[in-house]
Amino acid sequence: MLPVRLDRARPTPLPAQLAAAVRGLVTDGTLTTGDRLPSSRALAADLGVARAVVEQAYDQLLAEAWVETRRGAGTFVASGETLPTTAPPPRPATREPGYVRLDAGTPWIDPRHLAGWRRAWREVSIAVPPRGYPDPRGLPDLREALAERLARTRGLTVGPDEILVTAGTTDGLRQLLGALGPGDVLVEDPGYRAAVETVRAAGRTVVDHPALLPVTDLAGCAAAYVTPAHQHPLGRVMPAADRLSLLAAARDADAVVVEDDYDSEFRYDVAPVPALAALDRSRVAYLGTASKSVCPSLRLGWLVAPPALHEHIVRRRTVMHDTPSWPGQHALLTLLRDGWVDKVVRTARRVYADRAPRVAAALAPHAQPAGPLAGMYSTWLTDPAPAERARAAGHAAGFDVPLLADYCRRADRTGLVVGFGGVTDAELARALDAIVGGLAEG
Ligand SMILES: Cc1ncc(COP(=O)(O)O)c(C=O)c1O
Repeated sequence: MLPVRLDRARPTPLPAQLAAAVRGLVTDGTLTTGDRLPSSRALAADLGVARAVVEQAYDQLLAEAWVETRRGAGTFVASGETLPTTAPPPRPATREPGYVRLDAGTPWIDPRHLAGWRRAWREVSIAVPPRGYPDPRGLPDLREALAERLARTRGLTVGPDEILVTAGTTDGLRQLLGALGPGDVLVEDPGYRAAVETVRAAGRTVVDHPALLPVTDLAGCAAAYVTPAHQHPLGRVMPAADRLSLLAAARDADAVVVEDDYDSEFRYDVAPVPALAALDRSRVAYLGTASKSVCPSLRLGWLVAPPALHEHIVRRRTVMHDTPSWPGQHALLTLLRDGWVDKVVRTARRVYADRAPRVAAALAPHAQPAGPLAGMYSTWLTDPAPAERARAAGHAAGFDVPLLADYCRRADRTGLVVGFGGVTDAELARALDAIVGGLAEG
């Protein structure tokens, strides 16, 4: 029988636990190519679970090409050509069900702050919705509150009427792309996968630009999408000289710089780096999001675009009414007015400031940090094999650990992207143990 233990107390479903355990047995060499797995009936009896649990796990492993079936003979560890340890199948960038994902984008939400969240929604429930279609730019009071916050926290002085409320970063990017003239879009490589998909979905060509090199030429591009405060996912702050070079290239090509300012509030060593848009409002479209400070499921963000693009989007929104819904905007307004967002950001910053060094202490002996400690994730450079081993070890322990290679298009960088916002302290400790185990195996 297989040396596997399932734990009913864990939130991970039993089939996922079993599949993860078998993957672990293959990656650690306990099971090798051609080994026959026990029949589902025998293994179910041995583990004391329903046969369907084993069947589901085997189906999953079959779909991922870890095992193969031979008619009438049973289930076997797949042969070398198909074995994911040697040839990993393309991994969807989405969450894997049953695993705790160390997601780079999921923030810490302190359960102690839920009372304020509920208060905001109670206020929404007694407010009277505006008559007719809402302001295409977004709720005026919300834009006022956002303008105050942008000036205070990002050094960006804008009037409320220059702000457009969006349904998050990708929505803002999509709207900008719809307003821009023809041309390609430069995107950092490695870079934010949702931005790449958004550009492609808009029918534009993505120009891969090595993430840490300065942009000096934007010929043929309508825009450059960048993450200057915290390059996603390498973590670097864009140096001042590179900022100036990017702006000069944008002016020369009459292109727009799209600044995705997704998590700049979460610096814990120094004050947040000022927004690039503060240097040149006529060239830079600034995208902010509530996903990191409030929660990603709220689907709200804001866009400060150069005037012509702003007008274009407002005109289109006036016709199409595709502004975010009023209740969500009203709730965010209440959260901002109550000082809730500031409080949550302060608390989360303390949590990250505590966790980031723990991640660094665990991984630094085995991998090289890609950037300074900031935000809710850190990226670690390794050779491809240790990264794959760490991912497999994470899997066996019930964690989905993103690989840096999955953020790369042409770039050839390997390692791990370790998100530490969306997990508990205990989960993080277990995940780090597993990752370090995988890294140290070699
Ligand atoms: C680089 C980057 N930008 C933006 C976001 C947030 O996107 P949205 O505002 O669409 O939730 C994330 C979330 O993970 C991100 O990693």
